[in-house]
Amino acid sequence: MDRVAEVADLVTVALDELLPRADGPEVRLTEAMRYAALGPGKRLRPFFALEAANLFDIEERPVLRAACALECVHAYSLVHDDLPCMDDDDIRRGRPTLHRAYDEATAVLAGDALQTAAFDIVLHEDTHEDPAIRCELAARLSLASGARGMAGGQMIDLLGVRDDLGGVARMQRLKTGALFAYAFEIPLIIARARDHHRQALTSFAHDIGLAYQIVDDLLDVEGDEDLLGKAAGGKDAARGKTNFVTLLGVDAARLRVAHLADQARAHLDPFGTDADILKASVDFVLKRQS
Ligand code: IPE
Ligand code: IPE
Ligand code: MG
Ligand code: MG
Ligand code: MG
Repeated sequence: MDRVAEVADLVTVALDELLPRADGPEVRLTEAMRYAALGPGKRLRPFFALEAANLFDIEERPVLRAACALECVHAYSLVHDDLPCMDDDDIRRGRPTLHRAYDEATAVLAGDALQTAAFDIVLHEDTHEDPAIRCELAARLSLASGARGMAGGQMIDLLGVRDDLGGVARMQRLKTGALFAYAFEIPLIIARARDHHRQALTSFAHDIGLAYQIVDDLLDVEGDEDLLGKAAGGKDAARGKTNFVTLLGVDAARLRVAHLADQARAHLDPFGTDADILKASVDFVLKRQS
């Protein structure tokens, strides 16, 4: 989709400006942060933030800055996710993972510093003139990233969930869904959106986030490593991970994705044709090969 590629370029340029630079020995850290954040990611979460913002009458700049902060947290989550103590992966976005390109200690530090860079960006006065909005953006990002969000979900992923679909759904809502949902919270907070709009976008975010992770788990089984830019070949099952695909099998997982996609599109009905691009993005996102 052209609009996804357009947003990816916009976000990469903005991130390049926002990420810290250094000229002492700590340049190794800032370069590692750049390696992780500026690599060829799809920038889907920023795409959703910017596209959802088009449903409201708000300026793009605050949304773009908050979306860059979200992308920093996402990049950090991937750096740590790939570490030997977590998923132990060597390839990400078609290149060596950060700990392979640098070393493990640098990868830990780059993840840490990307996380704090995110809050630095979102709390900077250039993000929004109203400090209450900046605080709310930061508070919600912190919730989505921490023990009740992504990090909590990653803990459950590592501990493993037994044959319990509810448990897997909860894990996925935390580890992936929370950061997806934050993408939609950005325009909702900035626009001080009304409840019915809030409800519609929150429900859309829930379904698309869950569907996105199930597709990721399907691609782990069926995906082409060259297109994906990361390991596949059933690596999750081989590592003893539990997800919808290991529990339900490929066909039932695919059906669940189709059902979530229909449900997601229906949630956008209150926005009428204004939500056409968001609706079209459902298929794009779920039929992805990379
Ligand atoms: C990968 O996220 C991790 C998941 C939550 C599935 P993306 O598929 O958005 O990765 P990039 O940013 O495009 O590399
Ligand atoms: C990662 O899920 C979700 C994160 C919060 C980083 P995965 O471990 O399945 O992501 P990939 O497949 O390595 O991108
Ligand atoms: Mg993982
Ligand atoms: Mg992983
Ligand atoms: Mg995966």
